[in-house]
Amino acid sequence: MSEVVGYEVRGRIAVVTVDNPPVNALGLPVREGLMAQIDRAAADDAVAAIVLIGAGRTFPAGADIREFDQPVVEPHLLSIVDHFDTVEKPIVAAVHGTALGGGLELVLGCHFRVAAPGARVGTPEVKLGIFPGAAGTQRLPRVAGLDHALELIVLGEPIGAAKALDYGIIDEIAEGDLLEAGIAFAEKILSEGTPRRISSEPREGIGSPDQFADILQKYRDLAGRRMRGQESPLEALGSVIDGLEMPYDQAVIADRARFPRCKDSDQSKALRYAFFAEREASKIPGVGKDISPKPVETGAVIGAGTMGGGIIMCFADSGIPVTAIETSQDALDRGLAMITKNYQGMVDRGRIDEAEMARRLGLISTSLDYSGAADADLVIEAAFEDLELKKTIFADLDAVAKSGAILATNTSYMDINQIAAATGRPSDVIGLHFFVPANVMKMLEVVRTDSSSPQALATGMRLARTFGKVGGLAGVSHGFVANRSRAPLVREANFLVEEGASPAQIDQVLREFGMPMGVLAVSDLSGLDVSWRMRKSLAHLRDPDERYFHLADRLCEMGRFGRKTGSGWYSYGEGGSLPVPDPEVEEIAAQVAAEQGIERRQIDDDEIRDRCLYAAVNEGAKIVEEGVALRASDIDIMWQYGFGFPKWRGGIMYHADRVGLPTVLARVEEFHAAHGKLWQPSALLRDLAGSGGSFTGT
Ligand code: CAA
Repeated sequence: MSEVVGYEVRGRIAVVTVDNPPVNALGLPVREGLMAQIDRAAADDAVAAIVLIGAGRTFPAGADIREFDQPVVEPHLLSIVDHFDTVEKPIVAAVHGTALGGGLELVLGCHFRVAAPGARVGTPEVKLGIFPGAAGTQRLPRVAGLDHALELIVLGEPIGAAKALDYGIIDEIAEGDLLEAGIAFAEKILSEGTPRRISSEPREGIGSPDQFADILQKYRDLAGRRMRGQESPLEALGSVIDGLEMPYDQAVIADRARFPRCKDSDQSKALRYAFFAEREASKIPGVGKDISPKPVETGAVIGAGTMGGGIIMCFADSGIPVTAIETSQDALDRGLAMITKNYQGMVDRGRIDEAEMARRLGLISTSLDYSGAADADLVIEAAFEDLELKKTIFADLDAVAKSGAILATNTSYMDINQIAAATGRPSDVIGLHFFVPANVMKMLEVVRTDSSSPQALATGMRLARTFGKVGGLAGVSHGFVANRSRAPLVREANFLVEEGASPAQIDQVLREFGMPMGVLAVSDLSGLDVSWRMRKSLAHLRDPDERYFHLADRLCEMGRFGRKTGSGWYSYGEGGSLPVPDPEVEEIAAQVAAEQGIERRQIDDDEIRDRCLYAAVNEGAKIVEEGVALRASDIDIMWQYGFGFPKWRGGIMYHADRVGLPTVLARVEEFHAAHGKLWQPSALLRDLAGSGGSFTGT
């Protein structure tokens, strides 16, 4: 009857099983099958109750996102859950895996709900630019109360079974075999004569917005802070608010009018693009499912500074024992103190408890020489950015690390081919480039050298997942993919200040575009001395015809290293963290401009935005053209998870596609004519603009 929704009768219980791998998405065949099989059970005299379950790894994980661009065909999910209300026989959802979005709405449509201990439920629709449109915004507040419902609906983060039980979203956590537990639960309600619970009841509204003003404001504020610029959390909130006073039937009609507006919005399209781009980023041609990653059961990290400390925490957070290796006891002590402080902060914020902190710290051991790395399955070097030092470290590591161990460097821009060549096992060497702070930022750039083996790469990509991060592949190139594509943005921001824009104006333009912080405020935060040191170390390679960072150098020469010294592109009050525009920077910029023969002028916001973004796009195109990135969409994922670029913009390459590549090229050519060779247009950009193509296939 249905190929994707099974039906069998066990005793007097009908078992309806959704079987649509990989995640049982609720595409049309599943929706048709569900309707048919539930009706079959309703009509089957031998059946007294129904258990609805998912085959394989999960209960349906939501609507089929690939269908979003097509017209929706009945039965809608809303029709299905509304239909469940009318089925006289109790329907029990048996939930495992991830019941998300439409999956959770389906769960809510069932009259009773049991879940496996590891199940997760949630409504992540806002992350796709929509809201739970199959009555989720109406049923969840009735089931879980407004506060809990808004937590799920507006913020979009899934919760575990224990919390779902606490919120009343599920009735029971089932240990052991889930289907058996679902059947037993159905038998119990039948024998106890428990009446069906209908989550659309009460059918009249459940209160007035005034009555809930505080709760509503709390989520308005949270949405504004966590998803600045994104429309869907506010649409989701709007749907809930509309439904508070309206009867259920009227509220779902209002939702039906709201939904297409969200689904067809530019933001939703960008977010859906980002969803699939993220999954694409984990795929490396030649590193298929037949290549098994090496197990990583123990790790070692060389260097316990800011980066090393964050990486050590990644291991400990994932339950993997790790050895921190430093050259002096002092450095080890400092590193461990910083890690302890970070964990203490997590305890103070209620993220983990003291016992968990102790467990994680207990996974960290220390060593003052490389013998501490002898047993590690994977070693990550996070020492100073000095090529000769790194080559020495890798040669030493090669002597002690066990055969088959993966040796990785966290360098941000060094030539890893040379580092690999310092070992007798270059095929086991890769780059693992973390973003600051390493234990927080979700991106992990996995760098392939000329000789990295597919298995080493697979291990790096798997490690990203183990650490709860998103892995993306990069080739060896100065700055690899992420930093290399971002560097021109920083460059243009620097030059724009020399030309007359203020740091505050530049940062404001970028924030208005959606970036979490302005680029110059970020530079102040990470320290202007970092790139100054890099510029000095690479001075011998500088092309004298290329425009140079005179102003940034001057700020550094004056000791203005950014927030840590109280001044940089901005000034910071005593112990202050808020950037304050500083007239002195204007004066220095004017001096530098005069020395360099740069005529200062009023610069409009459009020029600032286009120069910053298109400089990055043009470099991104070169990165793809050279094969340093596998695909343009990988660059977008790296910006999202490495730099906090707004997901609802899709990414810089996606943004360029939306603007139109001929328009972008025209601007790049204009800047090339005005500012010289740094703006040399990428051949790929020219080709695609000429042929009507796009970077991201969108
Ligand atoms: N629709 C279509 N394809 C989906 C999908 C969905 N809802 N969810 C996952 N997939 C696909 C992925 O694209 C991936 O395909 P490929 O193997 O071809 O790349 C495959 O399923 C496996 O997905 P993951 O690699 O992400 O697997 P995972 O185990 O890491 O994660 C998951 C599983 C947690 C379910 C994750 O896939 C996920 O979060 N999916 C989206 C869930 C979601 O947003 N649901 C709400 C949809 S909107 C909705 O439901 C509203 C409505 O009714 C209109």
